[in-house]
Amino acid sequence: MRIVLLGAPGAGKGTIAKLLTDYDGSVQISTGDILRGAVKAKTELGEEAQGYMERGELVPDGLIMKIMESRLQEPDCKKGFILDGFPRTIPQAEALRELLKKLKIKLDIVVNLDVPRDVILDRLTTRRTCSNPNCQEIYNIKSKPPTQDGKCKKCGSPVVQRADETEEAIIKRLETYNDKTAPLISFYEKEKMLKSVTSTSSEEIVSAIKKFLK
Ligand code: AP5
Repeated sequence: MRIVLLGAPGAGKGTIAKLLTDYDGSVQISTGDILRGAVKAKTELGEEAQGYMERGELVPDGLIMKIMESRLQEPDCKKGFILDGFPRTIPQAEALRELLKKLKIKLDIVVNLDVPRDVILDRLTTRRTCSNPNCQEIYNIKSKPPTQDGKCKKCGSPVVQRADETEEAIIKRLETYNDKTAPLISFYEKEKMLKSVTSTSSEEIVSAIKKFLK
């Protein structure tokens, strides 16, 4: 499959993308995970991105497109990909359209995960993430807890709260989503690619996406 997952912070894009990778071997490409890995590794990209991320602002489009242009040409993308957290602005969506045209790749669908704001706020304050950049399994202290001593059930690394999980940054991320990312819903509606799923159940969302793809 070649799909884009749209949705507010905490809507469940990462959770759903990870479940979908088991379906047909498509790879999850999360710009958030790539950037967090770069911050942890203290690369030039990480140093440039860190401040924006901790404030809950978007990293500049030019940096993101540079990452995605090379990522989408890696061999594992041949099996298919799930774009999680990208595109996030109209210029990114336009640049993605041009890039895919150049690479002769066609997107199947764009799925918008529509989750109520109160659910989102609750999920963001209770989320925990595996600190291993090669794993980044997503946990939730209420719905999917890590081990009792706070370790990842997959790789055993410590499970931590993200640096952008402060109340201030969460509010800013939701505002940024409304201003910059929500307009992508009508962008992809006009492109006749948009499918919306209104559910808080991961199983229901995954099965709706599988149906869309048939
Ligand atoms: P990014 O990592 O993409 O963060 P986000 O969009 O804010 O999304 P989240 O990861 O917070 O949420 P999610 O929708 O993946 O939800 P999750 O599955 O974790 O980006 C971080 C930052 O990087 C940005 O702020 C920006 O600075 C920068 N950035 C990234 N991409 C960029 C781009 N393209 N352009 C510019 N800047 C960019 O789920 C949330 C919680 O809910 C978890 O605890 C989970 O266990 C729980 N949960 C999920 N589904 C369910 C369910 N069905 N039932 C119960 N609990 C559930």
